[in-house]
Amino acid sequence: MPEIKRVGVLGAGLMGSGIAQVSAQAGYDTVVREVSDALHERAVAGIGKQLGKAVDKGKLAAEDRDSTLGRLRGTTSLEELAECDIIIEAVVEDLEIKNEMWRTLDGICGPEAIFASNTSSLTIADMAAATRRPERMVGLHFFNPVPVMKLVEVVKTIATDPEVFETAFEFARSLGKEPIVCKDNSGFVVNLLLVPYMMDAIRAVEQGVASVEDIDKGMRLGTGYPMGPFTLSDFVGLDTLDKIGDIMYNEYKDKRYASPPLLRRMVSLGYQGRKSGKGFYDYAQDPPRVVDFGI
Ligand code: CAA
Repeated sequence: MPEIKRVGVLGAGLMGSGIAQVSAQAGYDTVVREVSDALHERAVAGIGKQLGKAVDKGKLAAEDRDSTLGRLRGTTSLEELAECDIIIEAVVEDLEIKNEMWRTLDGICGPEAIFASNTSSLTIADMAAATRRPERMVGLHFFNPVPVMKLVEVVKTIATDPEVFETAFEFARSLGKEPIVCKDNSGFVVNLLLVPYMMDAIRAVEQGVASVEDIDKGMRLGTGYPMGPFTLSDFVGLDTLDKIGDIMYNEYKDKRYASPPLLRRMVSLGYQGRKSGKGFYDYAQDPPRVVDFGI
């Protein structure tokens, strides 16, 4: 099986920086690419802060933090990913933006390099088709927060070389994750089930079934989920949820995936959840308080 030594990560947002962190922690030389110096510098500083907290809690040795940070590098140049054995893409959920990067990297990277996408709802085949290496393309779908969540969905298309899939699967394992095998259908396993659940919760509020707080409480205490559906939607990002819903609705033409009107209105008004300070909850309050929609 080909050995992976160098890892490239495209995008240093929430997911990309988490992926870069676990990769560097697992011993891989990791280069994370963003569109500006400020963005990758912020991500690397954030990772340093996370690792510092772990050191303070006595969960990580100071020398392990230092060696992890020593393996991590930020860049704005795609050319700096030329030597990577695997590239994991975690940029915005837009097929054209992703494919533009894949086309460029296809011309820069060695022929053996594996291309992996962390997409949550697009299909891997739609990206593989933009490259001259469709057999070397897989999905590696991580979960937020990446350093904490154990699961990685490893996705094979109808064109993925079995050896490439096996390498990607073992790579996920080497990050300390629990991989599962998934077919290349929009939403893979988790979002296929999770997205309609979150959309249904919003529809339940629209229909006056119960309040946001009570639905959250019901699902936490009744099923043992760590977060209720509204806390989770705010955590994922309402704009992200809306976008994922659109992509999955377009794929399946099934209304379970369609964004309910309330979600659409919230996104239009900039209620993106935790990252914008307001979603179903107002995060300016401590503890966060449910927003009154007056409906
Ligand atoms: N980054 C790194 N570490 C974090 C973190 C973050 N953002 N948030 C929490 N942690 C760590 C804490 O430091 C803590 O670590 P220690 O045990 O070592 O001290 C640990 O996680 C537990 O944190 P807390 O005690 O503060 O809080 P908690 O017990 O409530 O756990 C949680 C927080 C892990 C986020 C938990 O609430 C949870 O599992 N929520 C559900 C998350 C989930 O479902 N994620 C998937 C979303 S869907 C997705 O990502 C895919 C998609 O395509 C949309």
